[in-house]
Amino acid sequence: MLLKIDSLKEEIDIQQVSNAEELESFRLKYLSKKGILNSLMEEFRTIPVEQKREVGQKLNELKVFVNEKFRLLKEGLTTAEDPALAEIDLTRSATPFPTGSRHPLSIVRNDIIKIFSDMGFTIAEGPEIEDDWHVFSSLNFPADHPARDMQDTFFISRNPVDVLLRTHTSSVQTRTMEKTKPPIRIVCPGRVYRNEAISARAHCFFHQIEGLYIDKNVSFADLKQVLLNFARQLFGPETKIRLRPSYFPFTEPSAEMDISCDICGGKGCAFCKETGWVEILGCGMVDPNVLRECGIDPDIYSGYAFGLGIERITNLKYKVKDLRMFSENDVRFLAEFESAR
Ligand code: DAH
Repeated sequence: MLLKIDSLKEEIDIQQVSNAEELESFRLKYLSKKGILNSLMEEFRTIPVEQKREVGQKLNELKVFVNEKFRLLKEGLTTAEDPALAEIDLTRSATPFPTGSRHPLSIVRNDIIKIFSDMGFTIAEGPEIEDDWHVFSSLNFPADHPARDMQDTFFISRNPVDVLLRTHTSSVQTRTMEKTKPPIRIVCPGRVYRNEAISARAHCFFHQIEGLYIDKNVSFADLKQVLLNFARQLFGPETKIRLRPSYFPFTEPSAEMDISCDICGGKGCAFCKETGWVEILGCGMVDPNVLRECGIDPDIYSGYAFGLGIERITNLKYKVKDLRMFSENDVRFLAEFESAR
């Protein structure tokens, strides 16, 4: 009988139940009136007196063991079946959900800002609603310059002063020079507005980043080096740059910068119109008139400025063919940039 008790204990120890029915058959088999435990009790009565002590003790242990096992099995089942308890299973993996993605213009703007901030530039911002002085007069635009024309500029009011939507971020140059003493080293990202008919190649609003560096002894060579470094970081280490003479009222001398076409590697293709070069920004040495207008002595300080269009650079990097896609916010378009950041 001792052997029987031992093997029964082993058998019970490994029992598992996965639902209420199985738990009930466990109870019937071992704990009910006609169950194994009771039949062992019956048998116990018939054994010789000298064995009673030892067997009785073992039998009692078995009884405690079976009851405890039943309690544990029941407890396990309640936890598994109760949805409230099942929900706090901390080992379960999280349910994935879509996180959205950054807008391509933001991706490129952040990339550009990162490159310049690594070179010591800080970010400056200014208002989109501006006055004539910050957008034009302070930047050496003659009174009859065509950019002031109704064709280009959205005017908000004209009396007593012209209030308008800024047509370029160069206005932030003026705002910064007005209130900061050199050295000044800033990049100014922001939205600008022009009165253009909306098409695949033009929009009435777009985004620019303006750069400005004012200090003693700043030269055109400094400008060129900073722009070369910028172009190589943004478009790859093999990128070449080319500066062509140009004209802007607020810089003298002025230039436009091209980069070697990254599609054909400079050999000439349809994208670069067979020239091997693509224009990406305007730049130059800040005109002494502008410094003077903003309270900076051009005999002591000099500086350079540059301005680029974020849409243009994004088009070059991601080959977006229609400018309107940037503002339509079609999720199928936006989702294409999920892996970009
Ligand atoms: N403001 C010019 C534009 O909107 C871009 C520009 C050109 C900015 C040359 C500059 C610069 O600072 O030096 O077309």
